[in-house]
Amino acid sequence: MTPYETIRERAGDITVDAALVLGSGLAGLVNLIEDTIVIPYRDLAGFPGHGSTSMVSGHGSDLVIGRLRGKTVAVLTGREHYYERGNAAAMRVPLETLAALGARTLMLTNAAGSLDDKVRPGDLMLISDHINYAGANPLIGEDTDRRFVSLVDAYDPELRRLAMDLAGELDIPLTEGVYIWFSGPSFESVAEIRMAAALGADAVGMSTVPEVIIGRMLGLRVWVCSGITNMGAGMALEEISHAQTKNVAAICAQKLEKLIPAMLEAL
Ligand code: HPA
Repeated sequence: MTPYETIRERAGDITVDAALVLGSGLAGLVNLIEDTIVIPYRDLAGFPGHGSTSMVSGHGSDLVIGRLRGKTVAVLTGREHYYERGNAAAMRVPLETLAALGARTLMLTNAAGSLDDKVRPGDLMLISDHINYAGANPLIGEDTDRRFVSLVDAYDPELRRLAMDLAGELDIPLTEGVYIWFSGPSFESVAEIRMAAALGADAVGMSTVPEVIIGRMLGLRVWVCSGITNMGAGMALEEISHAQTKNVAAICAQKLEKLIPAMLEAL
């Protein structure tokens, strides 16, 4: 059975307004969703974890469909990262499936390190553009002209303006910046972080860029917000760790749990 058919069987004749992918430690938003239908990835062919892939601790593995602020949302509570199996296209089937269910907007969150001294752990950063430093691309192997996706304004300018306005109303400090994608799973070296800042990046992370590229190929309006969990390597005294990332993510999650519902309401 295709994942589309499995979802139709369990959720009926729904039309999804927005698809969301939630990053490490940022999945608390699902608790706000009403009338939920929860489908584990393991039941969905082509989704991460269908079969044998293990998931990273702190990352969910369910598709949650339900209602939030009057919109039908489909939430991917966790992602497969490039660093898990070297598959940059790991999120292609989930995103294609949600687009087939009607999603026109794709909202992504991630945990990221800050390269900007003024943006600190616990802050949110809206992503305005990216640098694909991992060098991988989810569309390698796609043998149609669909692969030649423009990334100009990939991070929808209108949705970014909306987020800035709503963050102001909600008293949530929000800046915009460029996200640089490193493959991970090791954190960056201190020299790499200095280079990334010199290249014009404001935040660093190990995810999301492949999903943005796939989302644009599918014609989705893409919006990305990073939860800053740490300063880039060498920029702060504390050591970077996955445990710390998860703890600080909870602070970011509280802000995202206000901002994202407001965004959905305004869509
Ligand atoms: N580097 C890469 N990925 C990350 C970081 C970081 O400093 N923080 C959270 N995800």
